[in-house]
Amino acid sequence: MLSYRHSFHTGNFADVLKHIVVIEILLHLRKKDKAFDYIDTHAGAGLFNLASAHSVKLQEYLTGIAKLKPQDWPELSHYFDVINAFNSSGELAFYPGSPMIATHFLRSQDRAWLYELHPEDAALLSQNTQKDKRARVMHEDGFKGLLSLLPPVSRRGLVLIDPPYEIKSDYAQVVETVINAYKKFATGSYAIWYPVVERDRINQLEKRFIKSGIKNIQRFELGISADTSERGMTASGMIVINPPWQLMSTMQSLLPKLLACLADDDGAFYKCDVLVDE
Ligand SMILES: C[S@@+](CC[C@H](N)C(=O)[O-])C[C@H]1O[C@@H](n2cnc3c(N)ncnc32)[C@H](O)[C@@H]1O
Repeated sequence: MLSYRHSFHTGNFADVLKHIVVIEILLHLRKKDKAFDYIDTHAGAGLFNLASAHSVKLQEYLTGIAKLKPQDWPELSHYFDVINAFNSSGELAFYPGSPMIATHFLRSQDRAWLYELHPEDAALLSQNTQKDKRARVMHEDGFKGLLSLLPPVSRRGLVLIDPPYEIKSDYAQVVETVINAYKKFATGSYAIWYPVVERDRINQLEKRFIKSGIKNIQRFELGISADTSERGMTASGMIVINPPWQLMSTMQSLLPKLLACLADDDGAFYKCDVLVDE
């Protein structure tokens, strides 16, 4: 089943949190000259036109990226640099997905491995990255692909795992895949995105990571309204394994500000905590 299309949701509050965390990790990796690998197991199309029929239908970016005014966010200058790179008119017309965001921060020695299973999105991603010799698109299952790729030749890198969770088994598969990936590449950083649609599923996900034996796990979550039993995503988070040392303090100052900007109502909240110590 592949009905999920990220083009309906691009630039929403969940993308904002996810992409900020990804950029923080990439900036840290860039501090050393030594090459690193970026692996995106669920890459999407790479670039989204906010005037497309899909995007216009839900206009989720209006409650996400469109609410952040660059002048109010000097601490997110790298994030706005990459968005501006795709919006030469100065208006927000395109929103870059994780592959285009990540490749913006790669150097000539670094590599990107981009998995996307949906045929249309894989084709769009290939088009969007075709001039970039550092990026390789694989029209394959990212969970399996990741395990075949590890450890990367560089022995340094970031793995972004961003499934749609439209198949409920994705929740268990994420943990199982990360446990197996960690056995092959324990020094890598892993960023795992999750939606809060049913809190019980996330409580279980959290417990599985805590019991996984993996060390050094942090969690950053932003809820734009309180948890609800009704349908729909009200919060989303990032679980980060082997985070850069300064990520916690960066997120501790960013999350309250993001909350104030993106909150939908008084039930909005954030979480910023250590799930497993180093
Ligand atoms: C949440 S979207 C990705 C968004 C993207 N990472 C970003 O931040 O711009 C999830 C993507 O995973 C793709 N997908 C679903 N199952 C997959 C699988 N097993 N392997 C690779 N891609 C998959 C979907 O087609 C969809 O494009």
